[in-house]
Amino acid sequence: MSENISTQLEDGILYVTLNRLDKKNAITNDMYIELINIVAEYESNQQAKVLLLTGSKMCFTAGNDMVSFLEQPPVDDNSESPSFLRAISLAKKPLMAAVNGPVVGIGATMLMHFDLVYAGSSAKFVMPFCNLGICPEGGTTLLLPQMIGHKKACELIMFGEPFDSQTAKECGFINDFFNDDEYLDKIISKAKKLAKQPASSIRLTKAMLKHNHAPAMKETLYHEGVEIRKALKTPESREAMSAFMEKRRPDFSQFN
Ligand code: COA
Repeated sequence: MSENISTQLEDGILYVTLNRLDKKNAITNDMYIELINIVAEYESNQQAKVLLLTGSKMCFTAGNDMVSFLEQPPVDDNSESPSFLRAISLAKKPLMAAVNGPVVGIGATMLMHFDLVYAGSSAKFVMPFCNLGICPEGGTTLLLPQMIGHKKACELIMFGEPFDSQTAKECGFINDFFNDDEYLDKIISKAKKLAKQPASSIRLTKAMLKHNHAPAMKETLYHEGVEIRKALKTPESREAMSAFMEKRRPDFSQFN
């Protein structure tokens, strides 16, 4: 439990809530470390059957904190964000997420590693990697074309435009969406139902569903990590992120 992330275990559900609303729940390096520890504790706690990650009704997350990206970018595969992505991709117990409002960058890509994801109808998903002069991460280049095919994946990533809950459902990003005022209650009832299922059977099913992809996912996470670390050093990405922090439009005209 910290200022930016709170946890609560109740009825077999470990509620994990992002709570950095003044920065739209942007995830800092310290928050990745906390989340890694929370996932590890969840995996070893027999009382916890389901992890349910949420933000607020207004905002899931604006993705990676831009200041962290500018000042403390990942240096290798053991840096905070790649370690977090590895932790959720390897989690053996079920991961659920409830999202609404902005679901940006790693906030969207992390959902591909979750087992059940539900949204409010005001959710806005964005994969702004190319807008920021970087490249996809989090297994996106493996999972997204599998989910929606090459052309649709290109459309979502190369234009980096927001898409709504209906599109996210059609793409397979989320299971379903509900009205803003009822989605949390609906999701909690689904989490409670899952928590009452035989835990060993749920773990076995998850392991079997992920088995065939595991080697490719390991390789993809590594490869994407190498590329994004290079991309974060380019003048294009520095310009894009500085422009966001300075509240101006980026100017890519001087780059080839
Ligand atoms: N990293 C760091 N700070 C962020 C942030 C991020 N990813 N996203 C938002 N913030 C901060 C803003 O700088 C602002 O801080 P300030 O009040 O000190 O100026 C505050 O959060 C509110 O953001 P703002 O842009 O004013 O809110 P909004 O409601 O108009 O827009 C978003 C919300 C999420 C659409 C918008 O903030 C956004 O596009 N963020 C960047 C998302 C992104 O590209 N993430 C990918 C990172 S790899």
